Amino acid sequence: MATQSSSYQVDGLIAEDIDAYLALHQNKSLLRFITCGSVDDGKSTLIGRLLYDSKMIFEDQLASLEADSKRVGTQGQEIDFALLVDGLAAEREQGITIDVAYRFFATEKRKFIVADTPGHEQYTRNMVTGASTADCAVILIDGRKGVLTQTRRHSYLAHLIGIRHIILAVNKMDLVDYDESRFDEIVADYREFATSIGIKEFTAIPLSGLAGDNIASKSEETPWYDGPTLIEHLETIELDSDRDQAKPFRMPVQWVNRPNLDFRGFAGVIASGTLRPGDPVRVLPSGRTSTVARIVTMDGDRDVAVAEESVTVTLADEIDCSRGDVIAAADAPPQTADQFQATIVWMDADEMLPGRAYWMKMGTRTVSATVQEPKHAVDMNSLAELSVKTLGLNDIGVCEVYTDRDIAFEPYEENHDLGGFILIDKMTNATVAAGMLDFALRRSQNVHWQAVDVTREAHASIKNQKPCVLWFTGLSGSGKSTIANLVEKKLHVMGRHTFLLDGDNIRHGLNRDLGFTDADRIENIRRIGDVAKLMADAGLIVLTAFISPFRAERDMVRAILPEGEFMEVFINTPLEVAEGRDTKGLYAKARQGKLKNFTGIDSPYEPPENPDIEVDTTKMSAEDAAEAIVQRVLGR
Ligand code: ADX
Repeated sequence: MATQSSSYQVDGLIAEDIDAYLALHQNKSLLRFITCGSVDDGKSTLIGRLLYDSKMIFEDQLASLEADSKRVGTQGQEIDFALLVDGLAAEREQGITIDVAYRFFATEKRKFIVADTPGHEQYTRNMVTGASTADCAVILIDGRKGVLTQTRRHSYLAHLIGIRHIILAVNKMDLVDYDESRFDEIVADYREFATSIGIKEFTAIPLSGLAGDNIASKSEETPWYDGPTLIEHLETIELDSDRDQAKPFRMPVQWVNRPNLDFRGFAGVIASGTLRPGDPVRVLPSGRTSTVARIVTMDGDRDVAVAEESVTVTLADEIDCSRGDVIAAADAPPQTADQFQATIVWMDADEMLPGRAYWMKMGTRTVSATVQEPKHAVDMNSLAELSVKTLGLNDIGVCEVYTDRDIAFEPYEENHDLGGFILIDKMTNATVAAGMLDFALRRSQNVHWQAVDVTREAHASIKNQKPCVLWFTGLSGSGKSTIANLVEKKLHVMGRHTFLLDGDNIRHGLNRDLGFTDADRIENIRRIGDVAKLMADAGLIVLTAFISPFRAERDMVRAILPEGEFMEVFINTPLEVAEGRDTKGLYAKARQGKLKNFTGIDSPYEPPENPDIEVDTTKMSAEDAAEAIVQRVLGR
């Protein structure tokens, strides 16, 4: 067993002079890594050992540990290893709501941040959170158990997320008598799996977190091992940030700094490359070019700036550039596209809805995006490709993603900042997925928008009317079709050019392939929305009568139409009343269980929050409602 110093002195400088302390460490590089293991692989012990043996931890961390054990004192006092580990474990357990705990420590050569993620069910989400910025993953294996399902999952995820350095920490060697052949067996097992998923290299280290073997100092118990100790190895790993400096310049713009008319700077963190005044740059997606005038920082102007630095760039020309745009090397710009193949890790309890518009956040940019039905999901145990209709919690799948505008991007493999994204539910604001862009679909670059000479204004003016879409929504049997039909008749008599799209009719033709699952209803509305938009472009007053039960899709249609052309008409009929009428006998069938997914019974209806027009059919006749709607249309 390795010899341990029995006492532990906290770096007194931290408490006395935090600035001096930080200055001391400022010039050290920072390595971020993640530890992955199942519940009792000894993760807390290993992290405790790293902190303990590195002899330096930060004060705030100490304070929280102290709260867990009165016997862990302030600087200058002794810290017992077992207490330190208990403290970490207690903190981890208390932090049930914390997905990832970040712990800091430093050695003579480097500073470290280790993302400590709990090993239980939520592992995918936590790992993705902890690993997205990690340079290295330490995969823990219990020497007695060898390579487990969890080991495979964690390795697969780490590789997927693009962590380039993998350390196989074969722990608890003390419990297998420091047996070389056992170690070799585990490494061979792991190598076979690693190769199958594309991990080309990894470093295997036999160690014991509890006994301290091969963590900070070489263990006498493993004379057969001549590789580095864990800390030695962590100190030498090449940082992603160093590698990023050699790539072409890219900086997503965080905000535009315009304190006065003479200064217009674009602030952001350099994602990759090196920048100097005079460098030609291109702003994307617009493609406009200019040259760098100044590179401004908190400490004055700079001659050069590199990846990971925060800077404000001014350009020689007044060109359009705003938050979310990417400033890039003019001769080596990233691609732009609006359709992609992406790998998606679903992290929400509610499953993915193909076709639903989510916010897609990529660094400083947020666009609206829809995800299509997965091409396949990956079974993380067998790595088989599964055919699926959607993705549920912790599922990983490959899907096409369509954004509502062109974005500058790079495949995630090449650039995490320009290829990584999260998806956010527009209603709840919850982060529902993390994703990685694999490549742009060729069609998105080969299909262009064709400019036409007869514009939508020309179409409307020849009809002498303002086009609009009257979007009726309400339960089945609420009276949508009846009222929409009356409205159309009235407008028609007045010589207006109209067209009514009705749910039951469209479902016999254009949408005859769709049923009533959530995904099918979303697709139903997406298609009708696009058709309604085309008809409005043709200058028509369009009426649509669909249940359109989800707010998100109604909002999606609103968003594709010019401001003010979408009028949401809520036919507000209580369920009891619609069910009482039951003109088609469908409610009765649904109640008897003969019709599944029926709106209002076992499928939801989300009423509009701010309809442009609301009709309470229990208080108003269809005729009066139609008249009121016509007046609103004409009065625009
Ligand atoms: S939507 O939800 O996708 O907007 P849509 O308006 O096209 O629905 O179609 C609704 C009509 O389909 C209803 O008026 C009813 O006649 C019929 N229908 C058949 N099955 C269902 C169901 N499970 N839920 C609701 N409507 C259904």
